[in-house]
Amino acid sequence: MSKSISGFSKLSKSKKIDWIVNTYFSNTKDAKGVLEQYWNNNEKLQQLHDEFIENTITNYYLPLGVAPNFLINDKLYTIPMAIEESSVVAAASKAAKFWLDRGGFKTKVIATKKIGQVHFIYSGDFKVLQQFFNHVKPKLIEDTKAITKNMERRGGGILDIELKDKTNDIKGYYQLHASFDTLDAMGANFINSCLEQFAKTFKSEALMFDAFTESEKQIEVVMSILSNYVPDCLVRAEVRCDVHLLSENDAIPGEDFAHKFVQAVNIAEVEPYRAVTHNKGIMNGIDAVVLATGNDFRAVEAGVHAYASRNGQYSSLSHAKIENGIFTFWMEIPLALGTVGGLTGLHPLVKLALELLDKPSAKELMQIVAVAGLAQNFAALRSLTTTGIQQGHMKMHLMNILNQFNANDEEKQTLTEYFKTHTVTHSAVVEAIQQLRMKNA
Ligand code: MEV
Repeated sequence: MSKSISGFSKLSKSKKIDWIVNTYFSNTKDAKGVLEQYWNNNEKLQQLHDEFIENTITNYYLPLGVAPNFLINDKLYTIPMAIEESSVVAAASKAAKFWLDRGGFKTKVIATKKIGQVHFIYSGDFKVLQQFFNHVKPKLIEDTKAITKNMERRGGGILDIELKDKTNDIKGYYQLHASFDTLDAMGANFINSCLEQFAKTFKSEALMFDAFTESEKQIEVVMSILSNYVPDCLVRAEVRCDVHLLSENDAIPGEDFAHKFVQAVNIAEVEPYRAVTHNKGIMNGIDAVVLATGNDFRAVEAGVHAYASRNGQYSSLSHAKIENGIFTFWMEIPLALGTVGGLTGLHPLVKLALELLDKPSAKELMQIVAVAGLAQNFAALRSLTTTGIQQGHMKMHLMNILNQFNANDEEKQTLTEYFKTHTVTHSAVVEAIQQLRMKNA
């Protein structure tokens, strides 16, 4: 059977599924069953999900967990997290509890500026282009009034438009580089609509600009699009306490822990191989909250990693120091988030997640998300520099293997106890189950 098809998008959902299972699966009944078991019985809810994207055949579930006890600027939050990786929510909760007893997290939004660009080609005198830009700039803003009216009424809108000469990089390449304040909206649609209007006005006004030669009038717009690099949409999150307060159950003296922790952060600041994994741990926390609150985690990821390389080498997003006996651990991170528009008003779980957070503004959400990242990083570095990461992971691994072997509650209890003092490996667990079962047979 041919594995290509034309007109697939026009088929009904059930015909799409039929084509998929008949073309790609030998056991069509099983494959269909797997897809159908994830459908929602509530037809309206299912339709809502079907219509989020194209060619929907089923739903893909992720667990939605919560991490309680986050004290942020003296306000308590329970943070929703959508993520598939075990240990992340547990680590966030542990870090939240740890800092709850030590003053909590302090955060601050540093700036909220977003960027969009019209990329165009112009062959002519730059000075004349500049003259044209100065002449057309008020009209660029004027022509977007229908788009910006509501945003301006609420206090946001276009902040500025600049003309940028990029001809050192590409012959004839220039930009309209615009900045925006989109308030509680992530703003992608708003920014892109403004940019496309700028491009239209810019092109048509150029045709009527007398100082241009006939060829200069032919401005070629290549594209108009927002940038997901948002170094001026920045939030800071921080924890600090006396180094002596860092020891828990007196297992390791606070001073030693702080010293090793700072070393671990210093390594991530200078060593890109480590920095990527270090920042991945931060993104475990960030993405989970970004996803739970219906925001675009790909945009956040792209922007954050670009920011981590802003000095020419990929580096740690977080920093730590000990000064006068005080341990400080902090991070500044670019986050363009929205709490209105997009999925926020559509997806029932996103609405619930935002309600759980007390309906935050975009600025407040930036602070919550940054804290989730910092907490995650703290928890990871705490395990890495003390017990090692595998202790916690292997506990989860043990449970996964026990579940694979359909262990009953009694077997789980016995083997969990046994593996408190024995190393977890796949073969060791399998052997232990078999021996236990032989003993009980
Ligand atoms: C695993 O998902 C994340 C960590 O590797 C982060 C880190 O190494 O800092 C534990």
